Amino acid sequence: MRIDVVTIFPEYLDPLNVSLVGKARARGQLDVRVHDLRQWAHDKHNTVDDTPYGGGPGMVMKTGPWGEALDESLADGYEAGAHLPALVVPTPSGRPFTQRLAVELSARPWLIFTPARYEGIDTRVTEEYATRLPVYEVSIGDYVLAGGEAAVLVITEAVARLLPGVLGNAESHQDDSFAPGPMADLLEGPVYTKPPQWRGRGIPEVLLSGHHGKIARWRRDEAFRRTVTNRPDLIERCDPAAFNKKDREMLSILGWQPGPDGRFGRSPEAVEE
Ligand code: ADE
Repeated sequence: MRIDVVTIFPEYLDPLNVSLVGKARARGQLDVRVHDLRQWAHDKHNTVDDTPYGGGPGMVMKTGPWGEALDESLADGYEAGAHLPALVVPTPSGRPFTQRLAVELSARPWLIFTPARYEGIDTRVTEEYATRLPVYEVSIGDYVLAGGEAAVLVITEAVARLLPGVLGNAESHQDDSFAPGPMADLLEGPVYTKPPQWRGRGIPEVLLSGHHGKIARWRRDEAFRRTVTNRPDLIERCDPAAFNKKDREMLSILGWQPGPDGRFGRSPEAVEE
């Protein structure tokens, strides 16, 4: 996969040289090019922003430098043999970044990120490129960062670990929280490693039993426990057809019952507590 990032803070992307993404780059699985937007700002102060039409606080990033930066990055990528580019525009006004979207982006051969500072980029830039490329406006959460660079790091890491051969164990993302499959829409439960005793705390006996069926059931029960506490919305919107008899028993123990439409909700007694 090829990734281009155009930014006024290229050094903010230095963490892309470290750990999983760094190794994927070193192995040639990921070709990351970080570009300084100011190289396409031609006045003597390398200006990339201006005041917003209509007034209001803050500054807006200008069309000119972004247009040139994207045209050149596109030309360079095509020349290097990359194809089917998609533009990823980090913005708090974007669609939520989810594991599903990470999977979708990981199937694309070439992503171009446009992290903005200030009040964002003049809208005509995304409009213009949307006539030629798929454009994903993406938010990494309901909060406002000072710029989109941290979002690029987040999205790139989530996408890179899905690329073939990037994770050591090819299956290790299959039971991630939010991954499709048997743990779909449940959070992952607790994990343990050696030593077997630490500060008087042991390991749940079932994990030492070697009984794969019981271990799988225990993990699923713990996944329910954590999900009802931290993300009850995930249970509420789950298709109840995904729950087997044991799941229903566990949900009942946790104070959840099916409503008239079959979907699970917290039973009224449990809500009052
Ligand atoms: N830029 C500023 N805040 C952001 C957010 N929450 N997600 C993506 N990009 C952003």
